[in-house]
Amino acid sequence: MSVWNYVVTAQKPTCVTHSCVGNFTSPQELNLIIARCTRIEIHLLTPQGVQIADVPVYGRIATLELFRPHGETQDLLLITIEKYKFCVLQWDSESSELITRAMGDVSDCIRRPTDNGQIGIIDPDCRLIGLHLYDGLFKVLPFDKKGQLNEGFNIRLPELQVLDIKFLYGCTKPTIAVLYQDIKDARHFKTYEVYLKDKFVEGPWSHHNLDNGADLLIPVPPPLCGVLIIGDETIVYCSPNACKAIQIRPTVIKAYGRVDIDGSRYLLGDDTGLLHLLVIIHEKEKVTGLQIELLGETSIASSISYLDNGVVFVGSSYGDSQLIKLDTLPDAKGSYVQILESYVNLGPIVDLCVVDLERQGQGQVVTCSGAYKDGSLRVVSNGIGINEQASVELQGIKGMWSLKSSLDEAFETFLVVSFISETRILAMNIEDELEETEIEGFSSQVQTLFCHDAVYNQLVQVTSDSVRLVSSTTRELRNKWDSPAGFTVNVATATASQVLLATGGGHLVYIEIGDGTLTEVKRILLEYEVSCIDMNPIGNNPNYSQLAAVGMWIDISVRIFVLPDLTLITKEQLGGEIIPRSVLLCAFEGISYLLCALGDGHLLNFQLDTSSGELREHRPAVIYSNNKKLLYSNVNLKEVSHICPFSSAAFPDSLAIAREGELTIGTINDIQKLQIRTIPVGELARRICHQKQTRTFAICSIRNHAEESEMNFVRLLDDQTFEFLSTYLLVNAFEIGSSILSCSFTDDKNVYYCVGTAYAFPEEKEPTKGRILVFIVKEGKLQFIAEKETEGAVYSLHAFNGKLLAAINHKIQLYKWMLRDDGTRVLQSECEHRGHILAPYMQTRGDFIAVSDLMKSITILIYKHEEGVIEERARDCNANWLSAVEILDDDTYLGADDCYNLFTVKKYSEASTDEACDRMEVVGYKSMIFHRLSRLCSRIVQELPRERHLSKCGMRILQRSYGHYLRSSAVLERQNRNFPEAVFANNRKLCTSYSTASVKGGQETEKINVIFVDNNGVENHIKVPIGMNILEAARENNIPLEGACDGALECATCHVIVMDMKYYKKLEEPTAEEENMLDNAYGLTETSRLGCQVIVKPELDGIRLTIP
Ligand code: FES
Repeated sequence: MSVWNYVVTAQKPTCVTHSCVGNFTSPQELNLIIARCTRIEIHLLTPQGVQIADVPVYGRIATLELFRPHGETQDLLLITIEKYKFCVLQWDSESSELITRAMGDVSDCIRRPTDNGQIGIIDPDCRLIGLHLYDGLFKVLPFDKKGQLNEGFNIRLPELQVLDIKFLYGCTKPTIAVLYQDIKDARHFKTYEVYLKDKFVEGPWSHHNLDNGADLLIPVPPPLCGVLIIGDETIVYCSPNACKAIQIRPTVIKAYGRVDIDGSRYLLGDDTGLLHLLVIIHEKEKVTGLQIELLGETSIASSISYLDNGVVFVGSSYGDSQLIKLDTLPDAKGSYVQILESYVNLGPIVDLCVVDLERQGQGQVVTCSGAYKDGSLRVVSNGIGINEQASVELQGIKGMWSLKSSLDEAFETFLVVSFISETRILAMNIEDELEETEIEGFSSQVQTLFCHDAVYNQLVQVTSDSVRLVSSTTRELRNKWDSPAGFTVNVATATASQVLLATGGGHLVYIEIGDGTLTEVKRILLEYEVSCIDMNPIGNNPNYSQLAAVGMWIDISVRIFVLPDLTLITKEQLGGEIIPRSVLLCAFEGISYLLCALGDGHLLNFQLDTSSGELREHRPAVIYSNNKKLLYSNVNLKEVSHICPFSSAAFPDSLAIAREGELTIGTINDIQKLQIRTIPVGELARRICHQKQTRTFAICSIRNHAEESEMNFVRLLDDQTFEFLSTYLLVNAFEIGSSILSCSFTDDKNVYYCVGTAYAFPEEKEPTKGRILVFIVKEGKLQFIAEKETEGAVYSLHAFNGKLLAAINHKIQLYKWMLRDDGTRVLQSECEHRGHILAPYMQTRGDFIAVSDLMKSITILIYKHEEGVIEERARDCNANWLSAVEILDDDTYLGADDCYNLFTVKKYSEASTDEACDRMEVVGYKSMIFHRLSRLCSRIVQELPRERHLSKCGMRILQRSYGHYLRSSAVLERQNRNFPEAVFANNRKLCTSYSTASVKGGQETEKINVIFVDNNGVENHIKVPIGMNILEAARENNIPLEGACDGALECATCHVIVMDMKYYKKLEEPTAEEENMLDNAYGLTETSRLGCQVIVKPELDGIRLTIP
């Protein structure tokens, strides 16, 4: 049924969101456990740092905590995921496997998810796990005396705007500390004792009117047993009998890590990447003060785990994670931080472009990655990377071969490098340096055509006029074969006991090597010249080949000959006009192949039947074999002219590679790995675009350094060196670059960079002003050409029919590039299409425009040239909250929503009715919980400046960041359906899921029957308590009714149609506000209502509803 549903992850998540340290794999072993968004990595802390496991978790990790229940000898791991599920994992050291000790569903579909992120905490005495997932609710999962989890229960939490909750140490009853904000935005701290069952009692102490930036609590273990309240300008230590505060330089602490077991020292990482040491000064249990010291700079930390001996893991979701060592003395710059290792992090990717930087026909992805000071561009390419180990400048290499001093040697000794008129021999000296040497028996004054180790400790060299056999021990000439007079050798190949060469005139000569002998065994004349030959042994004898492959000029064929008689057994015409330049006989996983490289860079492969010589099916480009299939992968090097294996003692399993006047020795990286090159820019690059004609990139970036005010730039970069060539400052501090495009216009041969901006004034909920700026690149500099004011933020720009198409707030606007009388150019509005809630992104194809709407999924528009108008052609009627769209073909579109899902919709252009043509149907769906696909997923939601940028609905999305508020029951249901909880499902010993029964005053309320009829006419009967509205009822029963504004009458996405007029008449009259909002609803009928406004009453028993 589903098409376009094949999605693979090219790269595992690289950002680190959480980390913790403990004895997880055994009581004696210390482990570092890292959460990378949707994966957990378990490392063993040894000097080598062994990774034990890398496990996918089917959801984005919200909590990662180690704890040790009573009776356990090693730690257990609590994981909660953003989909309201949790599990407790244990390491089974016998089977080296993770076991799920407990798991459960803690969702509650009628509660409002927290604004400030999910909190999962464990009582230090392991009496219970606490979860704060919904406003006003604290969920408790208690442990029994044997350390097993029991059924969970909820406790009402009076504080609605909770900033942080932690369990306190040393309390007889489990006690939580709650940091919260009141309705006047003042921040306070309170403690509660958790009384089993199900109630809170006000705890031992509280603290009011804290630092306005206080948003982090650090519980302090015994003997002190207090709590640290971390603010922007103060840090307060609080306990029932002490309160000490210290002023700090204004900063936002993002992560902390405890250094000592008694909790007297903490590492604090701030949002500018500075690492501080906080010390609680105390005499026994009496705290006398706090002290803070700056240690140095790291990546912006999202987690800090102190490992041992001053070694610290700094996990980062904005930059590369790091392993650092804290020195006892500062370095010359006053820093105590020494970076031992960095781990590449590609995220958060906020924009990308695909460019063929090397001009080799292989696209590379250039991403805007990281944030703030850790912002960077990353060049991501797919293929095999080469680990360079040594290189030397050598121009004009024509061929290379590695030779051993004896066939029995493990390593190669010599590297023979051939040039147009000489041959040079390199060898590794005792200092492991490549040094020139000599093999006296070789001819060094001519170009070498082929070299090989030979039997009886000999070496063979083929040049244009001879074959020379040399002792590898004395290096003296032992025998020589001369080419016939008047003919020169053009191509040659050899094994340890054979030489095959072709001379001018089409002579193919086969020679066998003996102990000091070269015997010409056979010579045949072919009709054309030979272009390439090979006889790599693919049989059982590694020193002798029974087959030879020969590529021919003129008839463009490859031929297989049997040796020693040179009997032709197969001739394969390659077709086309491109001659074969290199052939190779080889075997992978027991299957023999003939690889044939053509002059135009294509590689053909044939399966070879070694007995009959038959060649079967050929496909382009093959490098290695996996599961008996040949697979292709590029090598990420520029313009390699020659390559040969060179495994020396100093560089085992290496390759010698000749390229661009350089000889490089390197090892091959893992096959099919993504190669990532980092170009630090030190600021947040938000948008990127490449201009092929000027070989430049342009980026919109934000510089946000601690000491400076925020600055917005358009910067021009060289696409090879990535140097900044030119910078344009957006002078107004509130103007930010929001889109960028390279394009040209009708009647103008110049290529321009167009930049869309938005004025994000703090007092405006949605930008009402923006600009489109047009630049040209002249002499490597950005030159300003024109500007056009817009009535909102320019979220997306597209070149469209020689004009410029812009998505501006809720409309799509088309501009012409007009020539004025004075010869200057100006953007002039031609037509527009309104009616979108917010159009953050669009794509175009021909005259079609696919618009992704922040609430109304995909809409297809068409531009009508003659009339000069843009009209709606079709739309997906689902209420998907989109961040990006792509056009796959004329009728199929790919959308990315804010819940990390990809889906495809199809338009039926050939449908018989207009209505069917207008509607698009979802045909493929993929939950992308593993990681967000940059432009397709995170382009808008992730990084638009929040409070400043959107209308009320949009603001709510962004304030919730990753969209819990907007996760409709439909989306949740789809996610659940698509992803069986593999980790959680291993062992269903315990499930704490509970349902919220409609209980009022301990009595079950009266319920009526409500029937939802889906698009296929299937009825879904649900029981709904009197007094509940239809939106709530739908959510409780997983009916896909969106209700994006939660009943605030701002969205119309809870639109339902009452199917029988008699029931419609029984409803309360709609209010004027509801009527107004209904006007925006899709598929309005005379019995349409907004579900959030319809309250269930007894007369409605049996009402039938459908969702348009
Ligand atoms: S939920 Fe938005 S109007 Fe009903």
